[in-house]
Amino acid sequence: MYTELHDPRNFSLRRVANSGVYAGLKVGERPMRDSVPAGGICPGAKIIVRDIRVFYGNKQALYDVSLDVPENRVTALIGPSGCGKSTFLRSLNRMNDVVEGCRVEGHVMIDGEDVYDRNVDVVKLRARIGMVFQKPNPFPKSIYDNVAYGPRIHGIANNREHLDAIVRDCLTRVGLFEEIQDRLHDPGTSLSGGQQQRLCIARAIAVSPEVILMDEPCSALDPIATARIEELIDQLREKFTIVIVTHNLQQAARVSQLTAFFHLGRLVELDDTERMFTNPRETRTADYITGRYG
Ligand SMILES: Nc1ncnc2c1ncn2[C@@H]1O[C@H](COP(=O)(O)OP(=O)(O)O)[C@@H](O)[C@H]1O
Ligand SMILES: [Mg+2]
Repeated sequence: MYTELHDPRNFSLRRVANSGVYAGLKVGERPMRDSVPAGGICPGAKIIVRDIRVFYGNKQALYDVSLDVPENRVTALIGPSGCGKSTFLRSLNRMNDVVEGCRVEGHVMIDGEDVYDRNVDVVKLRARIGMVFQKPNPFPKSIYDNVAYGPRIHGIANNREHLDAIVRDCLTRVGLFEEIQDRLHDPGTSLSGGQQQRLCIARAIAVSPEVILMDEPCSALDPIATARIEELIDQLREKFTIVIVTHNLQQAARVSQLTAFFHLGRLVELDDTERMFTNPRETRTADYITGRYG
């Protein structure tokens, strides 16, 4: 039976009543642009996650994770290897659906819509919530076709000129157009690692997603390419909501406004990034950010 109490949109209401962490925030209040309320919970957030549990076969990888992803900000997921960061990220756009033996319970809402509703068109969902992976993975196609691929399959461009304009715009946004404009028809794989990752970001934004998920997008890159991607992430948040997994704490501190610390499949702490790194509430967080483990 579906009652109002079971409506995931009301979970935060119940928590306001039940928990001190959520107190002091009005339900439905939009987050301020450049800061995050204490506790990191932002009613009216772009993505609302409630009590997500993920299993691989009978092994549980995530335990009742709830967090809100605010719009037009960067949320960083940190924590030791194996703590469930990638699993969590994949649960946001149902990429776990394609992992054999993986089962997800709980709720993920994007703009109030249940991502796990059986009527959701998963292809459309992944156009709304795009993804960038650790290792740059351009398609075995030209630079142009890598970016044009999504707009073509989603019927976004009206004609060739429109498609050209989208490709040009996306490559410009990622700072690649000037560098490679006279070799648009070379293979995407002919680019350097950092350029390939920017190409993958251009490919992700070409379908105008609302959210971009990034799983350790810089870990295969050198420091200069990494700095360019970090700069780009900061620009992209004006238009997109970004969730980034990183094992690099300095990177989390540089690029994100909100940080979530995971440990052994649980969300231990979620807060404004600056606050988390200067004044963590939990001992486990403090131990991790001071390098005591992980
Ligand atoms: N496809 C899979 N099959 C079985 N177990 C998995 C799979 N992917 C991840 N896991 C397990 O789930 C836990 C969380 O993994 P993961 O989300 O990859 O962590 P992180 O990204 O934080 O390193 C780990 O114990 C890992 O071994
Ligand atoms: Mg991972």
